[in-house]
Amino acid sequence: MNLVVVSNRVSRGKPNEPMTGGLAAALLPIVEKSGAIWVGSSGRVRDGNLKEPFAEIEALGAGALAMLDLPAAHYGGYYEGFANSALWPALHSRADLIRASQEDYLSYREVNAFMARALLRFRKADSAFWIQDYHFLALGAELRDLRVTEPIGFFLHTPWPARSVISGVPHHRELVEAMLAYDLIGFQTEEDCENFLAYAQSDLGLVVHDGVIISRYGRTRAAVFPIGIDPQLFAQLATKASTHPDVSRLRRSLNGEKLAIGVDRLDYSKGLINRIKAFDRMWTLHPSLARTVSLLQIATPSRGAIEAYGNLQSEVARLVSDVNGVHGEVDWTPIRYLNKGYGQAVLAGLYRTAQVGVVTPLQDGMNLVAKEYVAAQNPVDPGVLVLSKFAGAANELDTALLVNPHDIDGMARTIAIALSMPLTERRMRWEAMMAKLRGHTIQQWFADFTDALRECQLDKDALAPVIVEPARWPLRSASNSNTARYH
Ligand code: F6P
Repeated sequence: MNLVVVSNRVSRGKPNEPMTGGLAAALLPIVEKSGAIWVGSSGRVRDGNLKEPFAEIEALGAGALAMLDLPAAHYGGYYEGFANSALWPALHSRADLIRASQEDYLSYREVNAFMARALLRFRKADSAFWIQDYHFLALGAELRDLRVTEPIGFFLHTPWPARSVISGVPHHRELVEAMLAYDLIGFQTEEDCENFLAYAQSDLGLVVHDGVIISRYGRTRAAVFPIGIDPQLFAQLATKASTHPDVSRLRRSLNGEKLAIGVDRLDYSKGLINRIKAFDRMWTLHPSLARTVSLLQIATPSRGAIEAYGNLQSEVARLVSDVNGVHGEVDWTPIRYLNKGYGQAVLAGLYRTAQVGVVTPLQDGMNLVAKEYVAAQNPVDPGVLVLSKFAGAANELDTALLVNPHDIDGMARTIAIALSMPLTERRMRWEAMMAKLRGHTIQQWFADFTDALRECQLDKDALAPVIVEPARWPLRSASNSNTARYH
């Protein structure tokens, strides 16, 4: 199988390159090892002849990276517009933040069509395409329009919300119908997969049976593939990072004080406001914890041109300043707040320095920071993970201290418990989490998805084509949809 992996954001594989999200960090090692070609945005735009996409191509381990300049006229409408102001809020159940114009939607479709044309250049006899994330919901349909018959899989890194929320996205029907051009659609959790199948069955009126949806494209399998990390590699990075200048400086500055760490893109889905309020509450409820623990919050700026992100940045900065003003002392700052990105080589060391990792999103597909924090710990003296029950990672890391990020008092109490947890309990919880991480690595995720995609192709070859005319779409199946889970 000549695999072509597609995502909006890519990584060039430089260890000190700041990572703006889980997807790029996760895909990097599997492209490097598998020999796949990874196609994504160069981060630049270009005017002119959109029929001939321009790509800069470079080697990436055994694979290759192709970075495309996206069409200047449509980039804003696609990225800041439809992808991140309509789809992203809806996918994170923030229907109140959905903003979308017709122009944005058209630009989103144009960029999907542009990417489809660009991919033809990388197509070989036995190619298979694996499309990543909400930026390219319609890319499979565009490829089928160009008569691509090879297997096409799709993986959604974010949650998929309840039917009533996704229905708030303009053109939701058209988009989900376009998604059915994929042979296989992967989700992070059972709940995401069930929400999607429920929409296909109830809103599109399609036949859904055993995780398979029948549409005019034929069969689409929907299944669960929780994404993992390479825990061994991350542990090695963390050990190595202990001598990194930033990590050494941090350790020296602590003077025996304990550290809690949060690392997030500056995004409203990450629950930063509630987290900072929880620390405020903790220092109020337990004044003895002042000077004995501080929070290092790294909040990497993201999507700054979008109003909701600009507002969040001001709100978080104001809140941090208020909390530091109230609880700080002439020689002690309760929250160290950094608005920049760090490479994984440093992050691994920062995670290992912190006795508590706070990962408290209001809603998150998986959240790989939670997994990386665990993998980075010192096995003889591991830290404690405080994890939102609304992160996909909570399904696997169920021996973390799980919290409801809307319950500020509850979070404050839990962080205090984490700080005083005895070593035996910390080790027991950490070992159970490590066993999960070792059982579901990123390599396993890759193998599970690509094996399932191959199976879809075999099924397709074995079965007579299913043609369902659009006029007959409102078919309903009486059976309940059982979703498959692949680990
Ligand atoms: O969660 C989906 C995702 O693609 C993550 O990989 C990453 O956190 C984020 O979205 C990327 O955001 P952006 O590319 O807009 O910075």
